[in-house]
Amino acid sequence: MSLYVTEFHNAAGSLTGNHVTSSVRRLKELNGVFLSKEAYDRSDLEQVVYEVEMHNVCGNVEGGLYFGVSRISPGKVGDEYFMTKGHFHEKRNRGEYYWGIRGKGMLVLMDENREAYTEDVFPGSLHYIPGHIAHRLVNIGEVTLVVGACWPSDAGHDYDTIQTEGFSIRVMEQDGNPSIMHY
Ligand code: F6R
Ligand code: ZN
Repeated sequence: MSLYVTEFHNAAGSLTGNHVTSSVRRLKELNGVFLSKEAYDRSDLEQVVYEVEMHNVCGNVEGGLYFGVSRISPGKVGDEYFMTKGHFHEKRNRGEYYWGIRGKGMLVLMDENREAYTEDVFPGSLHYIPGHIAHRLVNIGEVTLVVGACWPSDAGHDYDTIQTEGFSIRVMEQDGNPSIMHY
């Protein structure tokens, strides 16, 4: 890889090069995200639940775009599959595209009235997330779930609303299959 080139490695689901930043979310940083506190306390909190790499050239300006890739590990806390924190965009009317690259997942979507729905994520699936819709990725498979994303650079992230109110549905394993539970 040249120092001045940014590359998206589709097979590996990774992004390297110029203007790329990354973040890692370990279980210890996801306190309160999963339903069962008891299962959480029993888990290895050093486990990596997900990683994100982002390409941003322009900063958080209106009119710009971010490109990103998320990799969610397979795993569960109790019966609940590993997932991202999830968020609304701070500027609520900003939408986003997701697309499935590898693995098997569910995209959990919820509007501001807490009406929630899901979409299946698989290699080649395309997901338009309108503005005003909170979104979270859940890995319901046995391999790393890899998902691409593109969103407006001035969207921002509101994690607090989800942190305090949660999503109205959770994806749990029941009798060996993913099942949607309402809260
Ligand atoms: C950006 C976006 C994704 C997520 C990523 C991690 O707007 O939706 O790139 O940021 O999947 O999830 P969160 O941000 O919820 O921890
Ligand atoms: Zn987003």
